Amino acid sequence: MLLIGAAGSGKSTLARKHFKSTEIVSSDALRAMVSDDEADQSASGDAFHLLRLIAMKRLRRGRLTVIDATNVQRPARKSLLAIAAQTSAPTTAIVLNLPLDTCLARNRTRLNRLVDPDVVEKQVADLTESLHGLAQEGFQRVYVLDNTEDIDSICILRS
Ligand code: UTP
Ligand code: MG
Repeated sequence: MLLIGAAGSGKSTLARKHFKSTEIVSSDALRAMVSDDEADQSASGDAFHLLRLIAMKRLRRGRLTVIDATNVQRPARKSLLAIAAQTSAPTTAIVLNLPLDTCLARNRTRLNRLVDPDVVEKQVADLTESLHGLAQEGFQRVYVLDNTEDIDSICILRS
């Protein structure tokens, strides 16, 4: 399961609400694992290497795996879809498609990690550009949540 959304859209909050901690593979957590700083972008290469490795190991065991990363760019999604395909795992995209202003406002009030507003703006633009083609990328299911009410009330059924 891929969470897709800009910084501040609420991916980690949603993940924590619905999934066990061991089911969540977070790029921020893995950056912190290798560098002690989840915001250290120089650790991104190592973090995503680990993220793909862990996803592969879990999916080979048939374990539900929730990828908590922005996933707003197609190449990032493609590499994860390829891992799912290799392991015959079904794929679901959950898109947190909130307005830029909401993401920026939440980022401003964060205590631990502030993301540059220009970066957030680019992520929202990348996501907007991605939206129309998402269903054709190979996900079995795509859910686009366009407002905070839908995100708050989403019900996730496990098969
Ligand atoms: P998250 O930390 O869940 O966002 O929420 P994210 O998408 O995972 O962001 P990145 O990509 O890791 O940077 C961001 C902020 O918004 C608040 C959270 O408490 C956090 O401070 N938030 C989230 C809300 O106030 N309401 C929500 O429904 C969700
Ligand atoms: Mg997060």
